[in-house]
Amino acid sequence: MLSSPLLLSLTLFLSLPFLLLLSPHLLSSPDADDLTLFRRAAAAAAPRRRTAAPKIAFLFLTNSNLTFSPLWAKFFLPSHSHLFNIYIHADPSQPFSRPPPSLFPPSHFVPSKPTARASPTLISAARRLLAAALLHDPLNHYFALLSQHCIPLHSLLFTHSYLFKTHPSNYLNFNKTHSSNLIFKTHSSNLSFIEILSQEPSLPTRYAARGPMLPEVPFSSFRVGSQFFILTRRHARLVVRDTRLWNKFRLPCLTPEPCYPEEHYFPTLLSMLDPDGCTGFTLTRVNWTGCWDGHPHLYTAPEISPELIRRLRQSNSSYVYLFARKFAPECLLPLMEIADDVIFRN
Ligand SMILES: *[C@@H]1O[C@H](CO)[C@@H](O)[C@H](O)[C@H]1NC(C)=O
Ligand SMILES: *[C@@H]1O[C@H](CO)[C@@H](O)[C@H](O)[C@H]1NC(C)=O
Ligand SMILES: *[C@@H]1O[C@H](CO)[C@@H](O)[C@H](O)[C@H]1NC(C)=O
Ligand SMILES: *[C@@H]1O[C@H](CO)[C@@H](O)[C@H](O)[C@H]1NC(C)=O
Ligand SMILES: *[C@@H]1O[C@H](CO)[C@@H](O)[C@H](O)[C@H]1NC(C)=O
Repeated sequence: MLSSPLLLSLTLFLSLPFLLLLSPHLLSSPDADDLTLFRRAAAAAAPRRRTAAPKIAFLFLTNSNLTFSPLWAKFFLPSHSHLFNIYIHADPSQPFSRPPPSLFPPSHFVPSKPTARASPTLISAARRLLAAALLHDPLNHYFALLSQHCIPLHSLLFTHSYLFKTHPSNYLNFNKTHSSNLIFKTHSSNLSFIEILSQEPSLPTRYAARGPMLPEVPFSSFRVGSQFFILTRRHARLVVRDTRLWNKFRLPCLTPEPCYPEEHYFPTLLSMLDPDGCTGFTLTRVNWTGCWDGHPHLYTAPEISPELIRRLRQSNSSYVYLFARKFAPECLLPLMEIADDVIFRN
């Protein structure tokens, strides 16, 4: 007579072929490739011991031309290539002219899917970028999400030293030019820079527009913040590993307005899982003065000046801004004119 544990094992063993038969079916669901990617990335190796400088993964989320690629090319100097990696998610449904391969080689482009406002597709795209960067290089320690409308406000060396707390004296001649503008807070390179707001007046209507969130996300846990953040590797893994909140946020919104799931998913998830690991502050400056339609102030060419760059860098907190948005394509020329002398001057 068979003992019951043996019977159980036998049953499991016999059902294996059926599971295998089923799995191609499971894999053919539209998100199956994403799920596989996220699972692999959640298990991606972390650096065993720090044998080289930690890197910043720059994640570009774009649905049109990367107009500012010549400016970014001055930021991403080949001589500093040991300090960064670049990943681009380009909406394949949009007309898009790729930047010259000398600026952004095809290998920077990650497998991408269409994105649209008022839908969870921007969250999926950000998760794809995080996953690709986690898998690609164990030295990626910070993950900075940017769009085609973002510009750098400092050089890469400054940005890297700032995030990794390298001593300010490492910024060659830094004191001379900027000392009055900047206050260095001794922050830990273990913190994510993500805006997390709980008191916004629009929060109740946004919660209602999102659709059913209970029981995973009660209103008291619902947060809003900028879509553009810099996450630590630990938090990037938390994000790609998450299925609990994602299963709620991936559902369509109840009403298209005011529905911006990507402004809620990341701040809500991280404030629920690790509030102390976040500064609650984004390092990407955006100007909402006088805006009401969900679009921030779009800077145009006549507004570009050294003075504007200096103003955009300053914040009311003890952090400085490293990036800014949102800039019209016509700003490229005036920005290039002040790139060497103002933006990237250390
Ligand atoms: C993208 O670039 C192409 C080629 O330079 C240009 O024809 C097109 O108008 C640009 N698209 C946008 C949205 O600016
Ligand atoms: C910057 O100033 C600090 C103190 O004010 C000084 O210790 C440091 O050496 C200066 N760095 C440079 C590069 O001049
Ligand atoms: C970062 O924070 C986590 C949790 O708060 C901790 O386990 C880890 O040791 C910290 N790492 C460093 C380098 O401080
Ligand atoms: C923000 O935008 C407003 C116009 O909406 C403009 O008047 C103001 O100068 C901008 N602020 C900065 C710091 O650029
Ligand atoms: C800083 O605070 C002042 C006064 O409250 C405000 O006008 C300004 O917009 C704030 N700047 C930033 C970058 O938040």
